[in-house]
Amino acid sequence: MKVLHVAAEIFPLVKTGGLADVLAALPVAQAEAGADVRLLLPGLPAMMDAVQGARTVIDIGACFGALRVRLLLGRMPGSKLPVYLIDAPYLYRRGGSPYQDDLGEEWPDNLQRFALLGWVAAHLAAADADPQWVPDIVHAHDWHAAMACAYIAEHTPTRAATVFTVHNLAFQGLFSMHDWPMLGTASRLMSPAGLEFHGQLSFMKAGLQFAHHVTTVSPTYAREIATHEFGCGLDGAIRSRSGAVSGILNGIDVAVWNPATDAAIASCYDAERLTGKRACRRALQAELGLDIDDRALLMTLVSRLTSQKGLDLLLACLGDLLHAGLQLALQGTGDPALEAAFRMAQQAHPGRVHVFIGYDEARAHRLVAGADAIAVPSRFEPCGLTQMYGLRYGTLPIVRRVGGLADTVVDATPEALACGTATGFSFDAATPSALERCVRHAMAVRAQPAAWAGMVQTAMTQQLSWRGPARQYAQLYERLLADRAGTASSIDG
Ligand code: ADP
Ligand code: GLC
Repeated sequence: MKVLHVAAEIFPLVKTGGLADVLAALPVAQAEAGADVRLLLPGLPAMMDAVQGARTVIDIGACFGALRVRLLLGRMPGSKLPVYLIDAPYLYRRGGSPYQDDLGEEWPDNLQRFALLGWVAAHLAAADADPQWVPDIVHAHDWHAAMACAYIAEHTPTRAATVFTVHNLAFQGLFSMHDWPMLGTASRLMSPAGLEFHGQLSFMKAGLQFAHHVTTVSPTYAREIATHEFGCGLDGAIRSRSGAVSGILNGIDVAVWNPATDAAIASCYDAERLTGKRACRRALQAELGLDIDDRALLMTLVSRLTSQKGLDLLLACLGDLLHAGLQLALQGTGDPALEAAFRMAQQAHPGRVHVFIGYDEARAHRLVAGADAIAVPSRFEPCGLTQMYGLRYGTLPIVRRVGGLADTVVDATPEALACGTATGFSFDAATPSALERCVRHAMAVRAQPAAWAGMVQTAMTQQLSWRGPARQYAQLYERLLADRAGTASSIDG
C-alpha cells in the first residue's frame, strides 16, 4: 500500500510541537510494517538543507503567486524515507517559524503557502505530478495540509482515499473570503457545507468536510471535539461526520526517547536499574542551580507556553506548592505574559524554580530524565506526548483528565495503587485548587517510597511505541480502500 503523509513539520528539521514528533515516527513505523510510505513537505530552509540526494521530479512553473515551483524527491536524513519537497523559494525560503514571522504575526501569504501544499498532494494523487508513484492513501495532518482533501475531492477520477488527522482543532487556518479566488476551487465550496466558516475561509473545514475519514490523536479527544466545550465552533461539522471520525492514540518514538540509551542524559537507566535516574536527578538540580534536595518533588514542565496548556493554573498555586516542598524546572516558549510570569517566579524563588525560555531538545531529555514528575495541566489536549515521555522515563505525569492525557495516565487512586495499575496523577476541574490538590497527592505518594517505586515500574513498562497505532492506521486505510473499491465497482456495474 502506498501512503503519502502531507505535513508542515517534521522532527528534527522543523518543529513547533508534537506534530513534528509524530511525522518523524509514524511513517517510519508504517514503513517497518511493510507499507510503501513517502512524505510531502514544504521546502522550508531547514528541509531543503537536510534532505539528501534531492532531484527534480517535475517543474511545476508558476503557481500560487510563486514564479518558480519545482517538486523534488530525496530522502530524509536518518530514516531514509523518500520525501517530496516543494521547492518554491518565494513562498517557503524564509526564516522564522513555518507559520509566523519573528514578531509572531501569521505570514500574510499563508493561504498560498499551504494551499500549494495541498494542491501538490492532489496532483500526486491524480498521477500527474509523479506517474512513477501514485499514493493509495493521502494522509493530511492539521489545517496546513487539509486542502489536499478538498482538491482531491474535486478531482473525482482520483482513486486515493484521504485521511485527515486533527492534531489540534484550535488552529484552523482561517483566511479572508476575499482571497477565495486564489484557491482555484469550484464556487460550490464557498458555502458552510464547504470551506466557509462564519464568513471566513477555513482550511480546517477542507479536511473535516472532504476527507474520506477524519482521525484525531486520541479516542477521548475524538469524543470531545463533537461537543460545544471542545469543538472550537466546529462541533456541528464534526457531529455531521460522526461515522467517519475516530481516535487513534499517538505513540512515541521509543528509540529517541529511551532512558537506557539516551546520550543527552547524565546517566542511562532502565526499569531494572534506577540508580541512573537518581544520578540524572542530582545532575539536573546541579545544572539548573536548584537546591540539592532529595525530599523535594522535582516537577518539570516542557511545553509551549499557551493558554491550552493550563500554565496559569500552576502560576496561581505555585507559591503554596513551593512552600510545601515543590521544585519546578520549566522549559518552553510562547505567550510573552506567561514567559514573563515564569521568569518572575524564578527570580522570586531562587533554588526552587528554574525557568528556561527557549527550546532545546537535549535539555528536554535531561528535564524528563531528572525530574520526579512532569506536569501537563492542559485545558484541552488532543493527545500530548510529554506525559508519555515522562512515563517512559519513570517521571510520573500530573495531568488534567482531558483528551489523550485521560487515555494515557492512570490516576493513583487507592484501588489503582492496590492493584498496581497507577501511572500518574489526574484532576478534573481546570482550577488552581484542583491542580494543587493533585500535586500534593503526588507529594504524599512520593513520601511512601514503595508506592512511588511501584508506580515508576508500572509507568516505565507501558507499551507506548508506534507499532500499535501504525497497525490501527493500516486497518483504517484498508477499510477505506475496500470501501472505495466497492463504490467504484458499484458505479461500474
Ligand atoms: P503540543 O504539540 O501541543 O505542543 P505535545 O505534548 O504533543 O504538545 O508535544 C510537545 C513536543 O514539542 C514535545 O516533543 C516537546 O518536547 C516539544 N516542545 C515543547 N515546547 C516546545 C517549544 N516551545 N518549541 C518546540 N518544541 C516544543
Ligand atoms: C498537537 C496537540 C498535542 C498532540 C500533538 C501531536 O500539537 O496539541 O496534544 O500530542 O499535536 O499529535
